[in-house]
Amino acid sequence: MPLSRRGSGTLLTPTGQHLAMHTRTQDDESLPHATKRRAHFATDLWLHSAKWSIRTMTDHLRRLETLFTLTPQRMRMITQSFRETLENGLEKVDQVVPMIPTFVFGWPSGQEQGDYLAIDLGGTNLRVCLVHLQGKGKFEVTQSKYRLSEEQKQDEGQKLFDFCAESLKTFIDSNSGEDGILHLEPGEKLPLGFTFSYPCKQNSIDHGILIRWTKGFGAPNTEGENVAEMFQKSLDKFELPVTLTALINDTTGTLIASHYVNPHTRIACIFGTGCNAAYMEHVKDIPKIKDLGIDGGMDMVINCEWGAFDSFEHEHLPRSKYDISIDESSNKPGEQAFEKLISGRYLGEILRLVICELIDDGILFLGQNTYKVEVTNALDTALLSLMESDPTEELLMIIGIFSHFFALETTLAERQFLRAIARLIGRRAARLSACGIGAIVGKMGYLENGCAVGCDGSLYNKYPGFAGRIQEGLVDIFGEKARNIYTHHAEDGSGVGSAIIAAMTKARKDAGIHAHL
Ligand code: BGC
Repeated sequence: MPLSRRGSGTLLTPTGQHLAMHTRTQDDESLPHATKRRAHFATDLWLHSAKWSIRTMTDHLRRLETLFTLTPQRMRMITQSFRETLENGLEKVDQVVPMIPTFVFGWPSGQEQGDYLAIDLGGTNLRVCLVHLQGKGKFEVTQSKYRLSEEQKQDEGQKLFDFCAESLKTFIDSNSGEDGILHLEPGEKLPLGFTFSYPCKQNSIDHGILIRWTKGFGAPNTEGENVAEMFQKSLDKFELPVTLTALINDTTGTLIASHYVNPHTRIACIFGTGCNAAYMEHVKDIPKIKDLGIDGGMDMVINCEWGAFDSFEHEHLPRSKYDISIDESSNKPGEQAFEKLISGRYLGEILRLVICELIDDGILFLGQNTYKVEVTNALDTALLSLMESDPTEELLMIIGIFSHFFALETTLAERQFLRAIARLIGRRAARLSACGIGAIVGKMGYLENGCAVGCDGSLYNKYPGFAGRIQEGLVDIFGEKARNIYTHHAEDGSGVGSAIIAAMTKARKDAGIHAHL
């Protein structure tokens, strides 16, 4: 059910009094503490004075705390159903959490060497890199980044791949020549890894049918298509001196790159615009690919695509009305249910919806013009990070954010309240992430001996306390033993990881090991 929005403002009455208007149109039974006030005379300013509004905010805070807090018991239940979902995805094809076999076999040796090109179509940017692997876990990366526009994300799929190929051409051209770092012999081709971080069903390492777009992408004529083939078409169009060696997910690349430098790594996660995880599985434990006749003693990376957990049925996750509203107004209602509670694309919007509701209820920003904060997606998740990290007693950072972005003045009580809500939303995201990690840890039996989890993405890297809250969540799920599991900042998966995978694949195929896959 979408939240109603009307906003607020002030009027000058004929008698010269200032009237602050706050309108809401939706009665909400689920908010027992909500106070409905349709108009307030500014002469009654005592209503807005500290005592009254603090008490009201406290009531709301209590309600929101109940809504956003996950008890250890609830976390254990989610972890259990998560684990069953993962196992189901390994057993049967076409499950909601697809548990995608990636055809990346086993861990890198650390000795992989050579020059590789990598292109990464992420949620926000397109990145092109040249990776020079030096062996012994060492490497050098040269890269360029191109920002993707919202229009490009919705434009024809082939056009998007043409843009990728064109950017690659610009990169190759500007790094070639006498002073450049690229020296190709006539006819020589460089191996290229394509990091395409959307769920793709793979038959082999250089193939991938896009199951569905995520992270707000909606380019038509791409879902259900082999994106490796589409990209190859664009590469041919621009006559690029490259061989598309591997199509990989960012989590797969992150797992391999993190293991290259830290061999304790067993799991990799991305917590950025989207969220997902990959881990190494025994081929014998992936029943759905039994027909391929792969040696059961081998291991293969599984791209879980766990952002889809609890999609459509919504049986396991605690979705608030704000989450439901975001889902329903997204370009993919029902999908990526887990991701929508966790990833950077959505957290800012959750806070914004809470704020809008409290403006309607006459709790926040009384008498001010709130139109700027009423715009969908106006509050970026990066602002939540800043709000949580504000070190000053007066919360000066929050004053700055609200006046700069939304032309709103805030009282100290409002700022403390806003920060407390940001904290609830950020903490819930981290604790749900812990449930996902816990499901893999439990399934693979990593608790006793422990393991490292390589993590990347803006939330993990920039959101204050995110890593600590994951750790705290793991302890709530497993008890003190969870301290054996630790997350760490991952190596660059889509650049370095992609290059290592290209090197591993070439070596595997040259050795004739399942060379057709
Ligand atoms: C995609 C995954 C990706 C994750 C992190 C999700 O939306 O479905 O493939 O790994 O975002 O980028």
